[in-house]
Amino acid sequence: MSRFWSRLTHDLKPYVPGEQPRMAELVKLNTNENPIGPSPRVLEAIRGEATDTLRLYPDPQATALRTALATYHQVRPEQVFVGNGSDEVLAHAFCALLKHDAPLLFPDITYSFYPVYCRLFGIAHEAVPLDQAMQIRVADYRRPAGALILPNPNAPTGVALSRAEIATLLEEHPDAPVVIDEAYVDFGAETAIPLVASHPNLLVIQTMSKSRALAGLRVGYAVGDADLIEALTRVKDSFNSYPLGRLAQAGAIASWRTRPIFNRPARASSKAGSGSTADWSGLASTCCRPPPTSSSRVIRRMRARRWPPRCANGR
Ligand SMILES: Cc1ncc(COP(=O)(O)O)c(C=O)c1O
Repeated sequence: MSRFWSRLTHDLKPYVPGEQPRMAELVKLNTNENPIGPSPRVLEAIRGEATDTLRLYPDPQATALRTALATYHQVRPEQVFVGNGSDEVLAHAFCALLKHDAPLLFPDITYSFYPVYCRLFGIAHEAVPLDQAMQIRVADYRRPAGALILPNPNAPTGVALSRAEIATLLEEHPDAPVVIDEAYVDFGAETAIPLVASHPNLLVIQTMSKSRALAGLRVGYAVGDADLIEALTRVKDSFNSYPLGRLAQAGAIASWRTRPIFNRPARASSKAGSGSTADWSGLASTCCRPPPTSSSRVIRRMRARRWPPRCANGR
């Protein structure tokens, strides 16, 4: 705290990232890092870009990367925005699209960065409780809303809505921007990207950090109507014109040109890829059943097994 801080800085409650203990062979569920590691072709492309050209600024519009993403998702490059991790893309979406007279709606429990952005950008919001089964109920969102944001699957519950349910949500809020944060979609949910063509209010945000094992490269992106993308670009160019460096752009492009390997089961891939010998046994029962003992005991036992824990919304 300092008298030199602005009022805004005093009032911020910053997001606390999942801890990064300095231990080998962790099962990093608290930040959901991929145990497999990136494709060798991605690493090769990054090494190839580490040359004298680093003295030059990168392409501010990341045109080649946006084109590769557009080809992959069968949309136009004007419908794709890229940023420094999906956290940055989310921040631009909050600033550009989610502040209106009526409150922004999101689930309670959900990704704990959302209330942080609300505070940063002065956005009034309402958290809509999950049902008894920890699921989002579309019917609970039938209320006045300036905008909506939902992760699908939700985080940290891992429970997903179907594409048809997302379509219902969009049709019930035709005048509100709806952001679907698909950080974990490749692990078993249906992407909403095919709905973009018929819903000008839909913005889908994805990341290369999880299924593509590139959390360290910091590349996230959004797909939506060209007008929504222009809004994000206006905010980006009022903040930082070059969010993605040359290495990030080269690595990300190579990833979209490589067949994804994220369909393999995690247990098999942890051995096949990184040679991890981490102990996964018992993890499912710890995560999926209510613990039979006190939470502090569970947390102690998780740490002992090298599974750094993380509590939902600080609870
Ligand atoms: C739901 C959700 N959205 C977005 C992100 C941000 O991912 P990144 O900034 O690495 O793209 C995370 C990271 O854990 C997440 O859990």
